[in-house]
Amino acid sequence: MTQRRFIIGGNWKMNTDLETGMALASQVADAASASEACDVVIYPPFPYLQAIDSVISNSPVTLGAQNIWPESHGAFTGEVSCDMLKELGVASVLVGHSERRHVLLESDPLIAKKVDFAINREFQVVLCVGETLEQREMGSTLEIVLGQVQSGLESVNHDSMKNIVIAYEPVWAIGTGKTASAEDAQAVHSAIRGELASRYDDDVASLTRIQYGGSVKPENAKELFACPDIDGALVGGAALSGESFAAIIEAAC
Ligand code: PGA
Repeated sequence: MTQRRFIIGGNWKMNTDLETGMALASQVADAASASEACDVVIYPPFPYLQAIDSVISNSPVTLGAQNIWPESHGAFTGEVSCDMLKELGVASVLVGHSERRHVLLESDPLIAKKVDFAINREFQVVLCVGETLEQREMGSTLEIVLGQVQSGLESVNHDSMKNIVIAYEPVWAIGTGKTASAEDAQAVHSAIRGELASRYDDDVASLTRIQYGGSVKPENAKELFACPDIDGALVGGAALSGESFAAIIEAAC
């Protein structure tokens, strides 16, 4: 059986200030150094990236960004390019997060373009996918999620898949306190892996890491991580507390 290294991401969203962000990053660095058996990535707000990089640079924590714009430079007011992020030490980017899809109304083609651009700039790309409550209740979960996977990976070739992580985040579980049951999450993760096998091959399917996200906390992390196709978590609310995030890292390692 393939051993996939767990990956725990802390998506801070539009939270923290500079001082609390730096203190939190320092706690994450300590937690990650104490348990080096899994990858730990944090996604602070853009304005704090440089300062946070200086806090984590001697630790195993990877610096991530919550978004990118798929052009190298130009008249894109308010946007941030991959090259700018590279200069600040960013190595991982979130693409297609549910808040980008549903609040900022990003489309599948834009998300596919972002994935393509970031992969070509040699970032680790975390492609986020997930169904809404309405879609789940209509029985369309797999159709929606696998459709987002197919569309997001449209231009990603076999070799580049080593830099892709998929985050399955049911929209109804994000920030709501509701977590998908371990069985429900495992069923979707397994279907995503099946999709990777048919789109690429068994190697890609067994090597690609698939994180779960949506109200992950220390209390439910162990049960989720025990599922065979769940390779870590993308954590929002619980990533804003050093103690909670450290406990989730510990549950994975
Ligand atoms: P949550 O957020 O853990 O607060 O539900 C997860 C995410 O949005 O990535």
